Amino acid sequence: MGFNTWNYFGCDINETVIRVAADRLVTLGLADAGYTYLNIDDCWAEKTRDTNGQLQADSIKFPSGMQALAESIHQKGLQFGIYGDAGLFTCAGFPGSRHHEADDAALFASWGVDYLKYDNCFSAAADVQQRYKDMRDALNSTGRPIYFSMCEWGVAGPWHWARSVGNSWRTDADIAPSWDSVLRCLDNGAAGLSKYAGPGGWNDPDMLEVGVGGLTPAQQRSHFALWALAKAPLLIGADLSDISATSLKILLSKEVIAINQDSLGVAGDIIWKEGPLEIWAAPLDGDARAVILFNRHHAGLPEQISVTWAQLGYKPGFKAAVRDLFAETDLGVYEQGFTATVANYDVAVLRAGQALRA
Ligand code: DGJ
Repeated sequence: MGFNTWNYFGCDINETVIRVAADRLVTLGLADAGYTYLNIDDCWAEKTRDTNGQLQADSIKFPSGMQALAESIHQKGLQFGIYGDAGLFTCAGFPGSRHHEADDAALFASWGVDYLKYDNCFSAAADVQQRYKDMRDALNSTGRPIYFSMCEWGVAGPWHWARSVGNSWRTDADIAPSWDSVLRCLDNGAAGLSKYAGPGGWNDPDMLEVGVGGLTPAQQRSHFALWALAKAPLLIGADLSDISATSLKILLSKEVIAINQDSLGVAGDIIWKEGPLEIWAAPLDGDARAVILFNRHHAGLPEQISVTWAQLGYKPGFKAAVRDLFAETDLGVYEQGFTATVANYDVAVLRAGQALRA
């Protein structure tokens, strides 16, 4: 969980953007909620390596240098993430790490980097696995624990091999702040993929568009809850200096975050679909289940969606206590199943589990 510059700022980044984001992560309560990685995306570097062949931070955008910036981020109790590329150039045309893996990994470690997002522009499809393994090995050789975020977009079925290479892997093309884009990332990048994920390696349907603009409150709730249930990395893409109270509340929904961070570490998946209505579910620690009743309709009236305890793998006769996780409210004890009325674009996010005996 953390923040990344790309979705809102794109290449328009500098030290002030990062320092403000660091402040806001702390003062808005996001760091306490778990968003501790502060990740710089593309466009942080000079266009050329220095005379020793090392990457260098853009001296106008980042006058203090990356090491000092990382130190100030660490002093706030946050972790520092940076961006590189498995090809000859990054997508925005800055130097890539191909043939420089060991040097770049060592440089990142010396700066105090805790997270590397590794893109796939100006790369070659034929040896993409090797390129990512080379950087994995280079990072491991530094001796510094660095989360390896694979951004190997454009590669078919990366989940078949990525778990032994990175800590997360992108499962589809770039997300954009629109409902169609969120649904595409969900359908191509989360549905049916839960079995490939687990502790140490997660599907990444791309960063959050909550608060970036372009999505209604219901769409933002759905996007956030489905990403949480899929155990996706939760990387905020919004401008934290100007985020609406509605979006902030969604990002701070502690019981929805708890699904994402649940100690059982099992990703959720779609378990039922009928037209635009879907049920997603994930097992949780303590024999509980997270359930999302999802009405993805573009238009239309609220719809009733029902989940049965049998669909969640509970034995006949099981009575479940149901809690609404966005509202943080207990809804009662139910036999057989639960029905909610869900508006279009919206979700009911529930926890079902053993009813406590009096
Ligand atoms: C492509 C990635 O998918 C994006 O998330 C972003 O990192 C850009 N490249 C940066 O150029």
